[in-house]
Amino acid sequence: MAHLTEETIKKLMETAVDMLQFSYIPYSNYAVGAALLTRSGKIYTGCNVENAALTPSNCAERTAFFKAVSEGEKEFAAIAIVGGRQRVAEEGCTPCGVCRQVMQEFCDPETFEIYLGTGPDHYYMQTLKDLLPGGFEKSRVLG
Ligand code: THU
Repeated sequence: MAHLTEETIKKLMETAVDMLQFSYIPYSNYAVGAALLTRSGKIYTGCNVENAALTPSNCAERTAFFKAVSEGEKEFAAIAIVGGRQRVAEEGCTPCGVCRQVMQEFCDPETFEIYLGTGPDHYYMQTLKDLLPGGFEKSRVLG
């Protein structure tokens, strides 16, 4: 997919904000929503899903990736991520290290775009390479 239009970016941000209502967050009360865009233009959504045993908790970004990959998708263009307490998007919500590494499994670090911010009227973009310099490359394992 060529460069994303402003309309597409706003739609992604809006979709990520919409997902905050579904976050299952009885332990942290910190909601995260994600909207993942495939190269063919389809959007997969995700929210964080916590667990009383804590470690089984899943981040919003990985929820979106695993939903998409489990339905046969493997080519991704961009993801929008928002998060905050009381289900209100706040400045400063960035993907955790584990989610960045999951992105690296399926995305080209140079071109995969990560949109952060608080909503369709306030966002900025960083590539995966910006956020995960020196990420573990699958070519090391695959040869
Ligand atoms: N969380 C995400 O969903 N994505 C991130 O990248 C950072 C953290 C979630 C995990 C947990 O449910 C809550 O935010 C507080 O850490």
